[in-house]
This record gives sequence, structure tokens and C-alpha cells, in this order.
Amino acid sequence: MREPLLLPPPATSKPTAMAILASLVVVVVALLLHFAASPISKPTYHDLFLSLSDNSTAARHLRALTLRPHVASSAADAAVAAYVLSALSALPAHSASYGVLLSFPVRRSLSLAPSPSAPAAPFDLVQEVYPGDPYAAAAAEAIPTFHAFAASGAVAGPVAYANYGRVEDFEALVSLGVNLTGAVVLARYGKIYRGDIVRNAQDAGAAATVIYTDAKDYGGGAAGKPFPEGPWMPPSGVQIGSTYRGLGDPTTPGWACATGAGDGDGGECERWSVAEVAASGLVPGIPSLPVSARDGEAIHRTIGGRMAPDEWQGEEGSPVYRLGPGPGILNLTYMGNETIATIQNVFAVIEGKEEPDRFVLLGNHRDAWTFGAVDPNSGTAALLELAQRLWKLQKRGWTPRRTIVLCSWDAEEYGLIGSTEWVEENREMLSSRAVAYLNVDSAVAGPGFYSYATPQLDELIIDASKKVQDPDNSSQTLYESWIGSGNSPTIGRLGGGGTDFAAFVQHVGVPSVDIAFGEGYPVYHSLYDDFMWMEKFGDPMFHRHVAAASIWGLVALRLADDEILPFDYVSYALELQESTREIQHDVLGTPVSFSPLFKSIRELKSAATEINAEKKALEREIWGIKLEKNPLKVRELNDRLMMAERAFTDREGLCGRQWYKHLIYGPSQHNDYGSKSFPGIDDAIDEAKKSNASESWRFVQHEVYRVARAVTRASLVLKGKFT
Ligand SMILES: *[C@@H]1O[C@H](CO)[C@@H](O)[C@H](O)[C@H]1NC(C)=O
Ligand SMILES: *[C@@H]1O[C@H](CO)[C@@H](O)[C@H](O)[C@H]1NC(C)=O
Ligand SMILES: *[C@@H]1O[C@H](CO)[C@@H](O)[C@H](O)[C@H]1NC(C)=O
Ligand SMILES: *[C@@H]1O[C@H](CO)[C@@H](O)[C@H](O)[C@H]1NC(C)=O
Ligand SMILES: *[C@@H]1O[C@H](CO)[C@@H](O)[C@H](O)[C@H]1NC(C)=O
Ligand SMILES: *[C@@H]1O[C@H](CO)[C@@H](O)[C@H](O)[C@H]1NC(C)=O
Repeated sequence: MREPLLLPPPATSKPTAMAILASLVVVVVALLLHFAASPISKPTYHDLFLSLSDNSTAARHLRALTLRPHVASSAADAAVAAYVLSALSALPAHSASYGVLLSFPVRRSLSLAPSPSAPAAPFDLVQEVYPGDPYAAAAAEAIPTFHAFAASGAVAGPVAYANYGRVEDFEALVSLGVNLTGAVVLARYGKIYRGDIVRNAQDAGAAATVIYTDAKDYGGGAAGKPFPEGPWMPPSGVQIGSTYRGLGDPTTPGWACATGAGDGDGGECERWSVAEVAASGLVPGIPSLPVSARDGEAIHRTIGGRMAPDEWQGEEGSPVYRLGPGPGILNLTYMGNETIATIQNVFAVIEGKEEPDRFVLLGNHRDAWTFGAVDPNSGTAALLELAQRLWKLQKRGWTPRRTIVLCSWDAEEYGLIGSTEWVEENREMLSSRAVAYLNVDSAVAGPGFYSYATPQLDELIIDASKKVQDPDNSSQTLYESWIGSGNSPTIGRLGGGGTDFAAFVQHVGVPSVDIAFGEGYPVYHSLYDDFMWMEKFGDPMFHRHVAAASIWGLVALRLADDEILPFDYVSYALELQESTREIQHDVLGTPVSFSPLFKSIRELKSAATEINAEKKALEREIWGIKLEKNPLKVRELNDRLMMAERAFTDREGLCGRQWYKHLIYGPSQHNDYGSKSFPGIDDAIDEAKKSNASESWRFVQHEVYRVARAVTRASLVLKGKFT
């Protein structure tokens, strides 16, 4: 083996007097240069960043951002984009527009007859405003409750109940002999992505789907009071949302259609037609509507037949749930308008001084189904508060080593559209220059810190959490509240498709993070996700908002300022080992061997250990004083750390869903919210279990080899050596 050009020379044995004198001179010169060039050290700036937190700024921004409902491409959305652009203008900021396919409700009706011969009564499909609601006038502008991208159509059929609409729920119905052909399936929200519920219903032969909010999951139990008295979903509250199962603009799969000034809607771009989108299978082929807990209960009362299993029942006091189909008849009409609309991403850029061509990106979406106080503008408020702190650091002489980009995405709610278009458009730039992407969607929904990351960033998040104060207890750090009574924090992974990190991780392989306070909240995607809810229940003092900004910003500052990137691939190797053990357990007794994968992971661990030692060697100190490093060596080492994640991506992508390039993390096929480790192996195992054919088990083995090869390529990148 030959050493690559930029590795440090082997350490010499005993220092001579000459060498000691020479290092003394180096130290003195380094000290002089150090103090002359930057009067305040980077860590001091980072402490300053933490000390500048300002809850009133976060609260003020959140109030301004959530005055009106602002669905993607609406006039109110454009106004919020202008607000963000102006709030970031000191950094400075710009925006970029795209013409993308969005979906709007034109006509909806739903009526219920207790039996085929009885008269039908219509539902009003309206979320009620409560007496004294300060947002009552603006609520009238809210988009009617609907499922974006549902098929248009008019359907009448007997109702059948399918619990949470998961694959296993439909399997249970089949095994119980419930005939879903032509039925209108009633399912409840709460376990999987709604687009997968509709798809499962369609696959089961249903003619339409109605998805309701069950009081058992969103009502807070007997003592739970609905908003505005309590945080729980009011009886008329409805969860709106998309049913598109892809991501990005459905008419430009894999590429973007930017609209420059005066270009109109980007009519010059290559696009699929709406008919081609429908044929892709990524949008539902049946109509669908979301309804409230109250309407769901009324529908339940008309369903007869066999009693549903215990776990399928509602809370105490609700009617007994039965499976149907019928005798209740639901008559559903939905007409949607799928149309090309203009969306806008907003950016602020703080150019790096030493490495302006290396990017640390922070992103959050801005569009909301209604007022969006939690989802997503708690994140936007945190982003703007964070931006104000960075601007204050700049005024005190700070410039980052690498370029920091703040991103405000549009049309996330429709299918991560703004971020995905931008990533597709800038794929090569990101692939060669992005250090990390740090996402925050709903920054604050309640207490408790939650974090998700690609594993080389675990240690950095843990480190940062030790410097940030717990927003709910000033006598401990965020780290202490995070680990609770345990001794290590739990960090989730980024295979899911629920928010804007997806394209960065799963399409390009950019190391990423996602953080939030609170996990889930009852008024999600309803009319009640407004500033009042946040002020009363989500974050009364706005301390969680600033804690979110603090940890988000501190992680970003370390990534932007640390001379050597704070990545640790040993945690990646350990995590992969664990995931491999789990998936291996899933196929015990089959001919599949995981030893190629285990072997490649051992190599990764040793390459990660080696590069950590190289980092240490570069960070040599004499008498506690850091030596000047060879900048080319530092750069070369950083490039290996940055690019190793890219090696987990594969040009071919996942079998049958080629857009997904990452072989380690991707969404579950059955629940887009769910993160899968080794999604390609997982898909293959699914198939093989169904058929139990020897060639399908050989295909599982092929997928294992494919992941092993990717892991080996990552080791080579870390080593920086050819074979
Ligand atoms: C299921 O219901 C449909 C529609 O009512 C009917 O056409 C079909 O024959 C039924 N299938 C079975 C197996 O009962
Ligand atoms: C369903 O409702 C629509 C709209 O209200 C109505 O025109 C239609 O006749 C109804 N169909 C049935 C089968 O009741
Ligand atoms: C669909 O949306 C387009 C663009 O907003 C509008 O021009 C058209 O009138 C709408 N069609 C219907 C049926 O509402
Ligand atoms: C706050 O943190 C301190 C130190 O960890 C702990 O002793 C105390 O119980 C916490 N208080 C609450 C209300 O959780
Ligand atoms: C900010 O926090 C202080 C206490 O630390 C509190 O008095 C104040 O009300 C908070 N501001 C807002 C807008 O919640
Ligand atoms: C799958 O096939 C193998 C070999 O053909 C057989 O031994 C095994 O019992 C089958 N497993 C299942 C679950 O059918």
C-alpha cells in the first residue's frame, strides 16, 4: 500500500534540540498570528451565540407568520415568503420559484344513510370556530378539508371499518371474510401515512376512503378538554393532508422546473401530463376525504356486521365499532383541481471565509395547511431567531469558515416539493460540496427533545445538547432532560419520508439531522394549529423555540467553523452492525447470509477508527497550544469525511423505486413516515416471504451484497486510498 500524497509524514522518534527550538518558534508565530487575526475565538463566538437567545423575537415572528392560513402558492403564502425574505435580508437573502403540480378541492360532499332504503343526511364538512376565536375571520380563508391529490369521483357504497388502514388491518379483514369490493372504507388516522391508507384501501377493492380522527387517539381521554380549554382536537377538527406517495413535483420526477422572472409557470420545461401522473400509481385512483371525530362516530353508528376486535375499538363511551360492510351507505363526491402553481423557496447565505465552497444547510418549510403555528412555523420562528443571532455575531466580527445557507421551503405539505425540486436542480453542487443538511419542521409541539440523524452526527448532537439549557428546567442541560432516567439518548434515523431531509439524505447522501421538541400533537393539520394553541399549550414562554434555535444553530456553527469536521463514522459502523443483526433475525432459517455485510461493516469500523486517529494526529498540540495545520491536509481529510456518506448511495437506486439512491436509509414501502434500515434488503425480504421461491431468496442475497459493496466503498473514501 502506498500513502496518499497528503498524509502526514511518519512521526520521527526523539526530538532534537534543534527541533524543539523550531517548534517553539512555530508556536510563538502561531500564537501571534492567532491573536492578530481573530481577537475572539470560534468557541467564544459559539458561547455568544447561545447567550443571545431571545424568546420575544421567536414569539413575535411566530405571531406574524401565522396571521392567516397559508397553503402553498396562495397569496398568503407569498406574503409569508416576503416576510421571511425581509427578516433575512441583512444576511443577505434571495428567493427561487418553481412551477409545480398542486391539488385543490373544488367540490366536496359527503352524506350518510343508515341503510340503503333510508334517506341520506349530509355532513357539513366544516371545522367550527369557537366563540371568541381571535382568528375567526382568517379561518374563513382556510382551504376546505380535503386530501390533496385524491382522485375526483362520485361514489356511493356500504361502509366498512379498517382500523388504522395498515397492511395488517386489511389482511385481518380479508381473513375475517369482510368483502371490501365497492365499499367505502372508514379508517382512522394515527399510525401510518394517509397516502398509504388510501393505497391499501384501493388495493383491497374499496371504491373510496374516509379517514377520521378518533377521539381515542386525539381527544385526550375522559379528562381531556378540547381546544381552546385544553390542547385536544375539538370534535369538528379535521386533519387535512396529502395522499401523494412520491416526493417532489409529480410532473417533473427527478428534475426541476424553475420559473425565472417573467417566465410564467415554466411552460418551457419537460413535464409529465396529469394523466401520466395518474398512471404512475403515486396518486390515489379512488376519491378520499378526511373527516372529524364527530362525523367518524356518526358513521360508525351505521356500520353493522361482525364486531371489530378489541384493539380496533374506540374509547369508553363511544359506540361499539363493527366491521360492516353496511348497512350504512356513504355517498362521497370529490372534485379536485390539479394545476401547475408557482411556489417559492427563500434562502439566506452567509459566505464562509476559508472554505466558501463548502456548505452547511439549515432548512425548514414555510407553507402550512392552515395557520401552521406548530407545523411548520415554530421552525420558521426558530430559524429567524437563529438568523438574528448569526447576524449579531457577524457584527462582532465573526465569519464562518464554511458557507452557511438558511433555507425556507415551500409546498412541503403536498409532498416535500420545494426542497426536492431544489435538491434535484442542485444535485451535483450538493453532491460535491454539501457538508451537512440540518432540518427542522415542527420545531415545537410540546416538551421533550427528539433528534434524528445520520449516525456520524450522533456525537455532535450529544455534545451540543450538553451546552444548551433545558427549556423546561433551568437547573439542567438539554442533554440531562433528553436522557431522562436512562444513560444514553435515543437518536432516530432518517429513512422516513415525512419531511424535507428526504431528498438530501435519500437522493444525494448528505449527512443530515432533524430535531424537534414534542412528538406529535392533537391538532395536527387542523384549523386549530394556531398561535393561541402554541401560546396556551405548545410553548407558553417560547423557551422551547429558543432551545430549538440554540441546538440547531450550535450544531450548524460547529459544522461551519470547526477546522476538522466533527463527524464520527465509528458510530455509523456500530449502528449498521446493530441494524444488520436486526434484519438478520428477520430471516433466520432462510439461506440468506449476512456475512458479506458484517465483513464490510468491520472494514468501515476500522477505517473510521483510522481516520479518527488521523484527526487526532492533525490536532497535535505542544504545551497545550494548537499547532498550525497544513490547510491542504485538513481539506483532504475533511473531504473524505464529507464524501463517505455519498458512498452509501448507488446510481441504480432501490429496485422499483430508483429515485431513492441511499442503500442504508429509506422509507418503508407500507408507511412513508417509517424509516427503514437497508430498505432494498427489506423490500426483497418482503417479496421472498410472500413467494418463498428460491430465486427470490437469491435476490435478497443480491441486495445484501449490494449494500455490502456500498459500505466497502464508504471505507475506501474514508481511507482515501485506491485498492
Ligand atoms: C363483494 O361485493 C361486491 C359488491 O357488492 C360483489 O359484487 C361481490 O360479488 C362480492 N364478493 C363476494 C366474494 O361476496
Ligand atoms: C350522492 O350524492 C350526490 C350529491 O349529493 C347525489 O347527486 C347523488 O344522487 C347521490 N347518490 C346516491 C346513490 O345517493
Ligand atoms: C383550476 O385551477 C386553475 C388555476 O388556478 C383555474 O384557472 C381553474 O379555473 C380551476 N378549475 C376549476 C374547475 O376550478
Ligand atoms: C430539574 O433538574 C434538576 C437537576 O437535574 C432535578 O434535580 C429536578 O428534579 C428537575 N426538576 C423537575 C421539575 O423536573
Ligand atoms: C420570555 O421568557 C421570560 C422568562 O424567562 C418570560 O417572562 C416572558 O414572558 C417570555 N416571553 C414570551 C414572549 O413568552
Ligand atoms: C420455504 O421453502 C423451504 C424450501 O423450499 C421450506 O423448507 C420452508 O418450509 C418454506 N417456508 C415456508 C414458510 O413456507
